[in-house]
Amino acid sequence: MARRYHIETMGCQMNVHDSELMAAMLEEGGWLQARGRADADLIVVNTCSIRHKAEQKVYSLLGRLAALKHDRPGLIIAAGGCVAQQQGQALLKSCPHVDLVFGTHQVANLVALLAAVERGGRPCECGFSYEFAPACPEKSSGIKAFVSIMQGCDNFCSYCIVPYVRGREVSRPQEDVVREVRGLIERGVREVTLLGQNVNSYGKRLLGGGSQPGGFVGLLEALSPVEGLARLRFTTSHPRDLSPQLASLFGRLPVLCEHIHLPVQSGSTRVLAAMRRGYSREDYLERVATLRACCPGVAITTDFIVGFPGETEDDFEQTLSLVREVAFDGSFSFKYSDRPQARAAGFPDKLPEAVKIERLATLQALQAGITAGKFGALAGSVQEVLAEGRSKRGGTLTGRTRCNRIVHFQGGAGLAGQLVRVRIEEAYPHSLKGRVGEELSRALRRPARKEELCIAR
Ligand code: SAH
Ligand code: SF4
Ligand code: F3S
Repeated sequence: MARRYHIETMGCQMNVHDSELMAAMLEEGGWLQARGRADADLIVVNTCSIRHKAEQKVYSLLGRLAALKHDRPGLIIAAGGCVAQQQGQALLKSCPHVDLVFGTHQVANLVALLAAVERGGRPCECGFSYEFAPACPEKSSGIKAFVSIMQGCDNFCSYCIVPYVRGREVSRPQEDVVREVRGLIERGVREVTLLGQNVNSYGKRLLGGGSQPGGFVGLLEALSPVEGLARLRFTTSHPRDLSPQLASLFGRLPVLCEHIHLPVQSGSTRVLAAMRRGYSREDYLERVATLRACCPGVAITTDFIVGFPGETEDDFEQTLSLVREVAFDGSFSFKYSDRPQARAAGFPDKLPEAVKIERLATLQALQAGITAGKFGALAGSVQEVLAEGRSKRGGTLTGRTRCNRIVHFQGGAGLAGQLVRVRIEEAYPHSLKGRVGEELSRALRRPARKEELCIAR
């Protein structure tokens, strides 16, 4: 009887993508997807180490899995991802019920490593190998896919563990990315998200040596005419490397969706310097102005860290004023957390937890009001939505607008995979509700032109 696997994914889209690759490889190797932990013969935990709390979550989950393994000794438990990379042998030692530890560059070896487990081994493989595994369509719908265009990060922001657990920044040749996107489209994919920690510096160092002429702008231009590609997105952009040429593509390439995630981290130039981000508050505001000049409807989302060592009341006020000034479409915000290896762990003037909690709440309340206002303003508008399939909760379809907002709407299941126009009837704080009206039901064969977007009423 075929055995079943279950993957628990923590952390960012890199991990989501890696988990998709693992699932595809396991299925190729004869494994079936389990319904959950209870009926799995193999549980893979794909871990995240970005903050102390994320790492704690890993250990608490692994602790619960120990009980499961006690009841079912044949169960295989594998730990992958960033905590596995960071801890290596130490993880294997501290968790005797874990059968396999594999690092962030060992995803492609998962099946071989499992074979070693079945031969009685307890492998720990955490070397960096810099290969790009082929992408696969998103499991749930088959309509969207992530394509990894680079690995690692060379920025070494003073708070961040990523360069240590993902290794040096290496890009994939443009022709490989274009070929892969074409292949995905042949398999029914309509939307591609290009993935990298800092996509704006794509191409500086290629896997096989040398650099990629044209860089990231050249890559987007090369992908834009690919037949059948309805939508193109990318994440994450580093503000320091956001060139005016890249900003201009939001106004020029019909396939490029009008959303950019541009993590600012702080509104204080002094804190940004301590974070080693390589831009000032003014630089960031200038990038935002350029983006909006090139594409007035562009949605801008961001990340913040509050309570960085030495952050004063005045620094924090500057973050709040930046939020008001930019009026972000959404943001993720986090309390600063010491990471081993990262330089800021050794900085003086750490802030008390209570101060971090209070600042986080203030920032999130401010952002929540702005986000709700942005969603509310869309009531009554007509949005281009890529229909993805039935929503989990009910009979409606779900999809996203070009600006990446979730929409639940009435419509036939046959619309899945198509671009449709949806009239927005109600706006909630984090989603929209609408319907494909009769006059709107004509599915779009091409993305709407920029001037048709987000404004029709
Ligand atoms: N490559 C992306 C972000 C990767 S990590 C970039 O450069 O922006 C995702 C987010 O986690 C970061 O944007 C930051 O806001 C947060 N983060 C990273 N390290 C952190 C730490 N030590 N404490 C708190 N938040 C952190
Ligand atoms: Fe971390 Fe900075 Fe690299 Fe982003 S750019 S992954 S925050 S080191
Ligand atoms: Fe976490 Fe690793 Fe991503 S630390 S945020 S899963 S790169």
